[in-house]
Amino acid sequence: MKRAGIIGTGSYVPEQIITNADLEKLVDTSDEWIKTRTGIEERRITDKNTACSDIATIAAKRAIETANIPPRDIDLIIVATVTPDMNFPATACLIQNNIGADKSAAFDLEAGCTGFIYAFAVATQFIMTGASKNALVIGADVLSKIMDWSDRNTCVLFGDGAGAVILSNVEGDGVLSNYLRADGSGGDLLYMPGGGSRNPATGETVKQKLHYIKMNGNEVFKFAVRAMNDAAEAVLKEAGLSVDEIDLMIPHQANKRIVDAAAKRLDITPEKIYVNLNRYGNMSGASIPVALDEAVKEGKIKKGDYILMVGFGAGLTWGASLVKW
Ligand code: ACO
Repeated sequence: MKRAGIIGTGSYVPEQIITNADLEKLVDTSDEWIKTRTGIEERRITDKNTACSDIATIAAKRAIETANIPPRDIDLIIVATVTPDMNFPATACLIQNNIGADKSAAFDLEAGCTGFIYAFAVATQFIMTGASKNALVIGADVLSKIMDWSDRNTCVLFGDGAGAVILSNVEGDGVLSNYLRADGSGGDLLYMPGGGSRNPATGETVKQKLHYIKMNGNEVFKFAVRAMNDAAEAVLKEAGLSVDEIDLMIPHQANKRIVDAAAKRLDITPEKIYVNLNRYGNMSGASIPVALDEAVKEGKIKKGDYILMVGFGAGLTWGASLVKW
């Protein structure tokens, strides 16, 4: 069996910043409420002409550059997103064309905010079986496009961004364990009802605001803490590691209180947890790969470190990946 490891990372966030003060002008909220309840101070938003594949392509090119491989050597592209450019073709195919990876398979994968962990686990399998040599795994979302900017329960939480990794055959350790779970009975806690075959786009569904994110925040919060704990413990167990041996944990960046509660349950020291949600909000599938890339660039990850990535999201879905750098 071959081993999979990360040989390159890249990310991109749009330039336009929306602060909490900006949101105070849109909905009945306050900087104080948003900061204390979520930890978010600002988020990045794309302009109206920019779509998922545009920002994902930039992140992908940066990952390819750090991996230092020609795009033609990429033979698998998986894009985790809940905000594809369109229903079809897959955003992965649009990106494939943009980067000139003309010898690759390309498809999208939808697992809410856990999408990147799911895509990473799938790509790991392709590498381990030898079916792929170099996989480009992207998490990218433009949640600003499916946000009801008059709903204070959701519009303060999310932002846009894209992150990417190149997974390849490596000597040595690399990916030690992946864990994926889902519980479809919680599908109605976090969803977008419109635009699919259940509620296709019509004037009526647009009027009813069915093309926006709907969320039961309290229930998602409780689930998130349980799920992160379950996933982290599962990958640690499979790899035969204790939580003390983890050098850096990269959680899905949804809410600082969720991260803190999960860390407490897991008994991991806060200094070992990477947090950038204060700057970006929840970027769904992009949150983990963007945080990973920033941690690499900031020198927070060195060779031999154990990195624990943990996600949760719509579906409900959750999962974790444990990597030796
Ligand atoms: N500004 C001011 N007040 C607000 C705002 C706001 N932006 N949003 C809600 N409130 C009000 C509510 O209306 C409520 O008022 P009421 O008591 O008069 O009814 C009050 O604040 C308290 O609301 P709660 O929902 O109890 O607040 P809570 O402390 O639970 O925080 C939050 C809400 C931040 C949404 C939290 O539940 C949360 O973060 N949940 C997880 C959400 C999440 O992570 N979603 C993404 C999952 S991943 C994915 O796949 C996209």
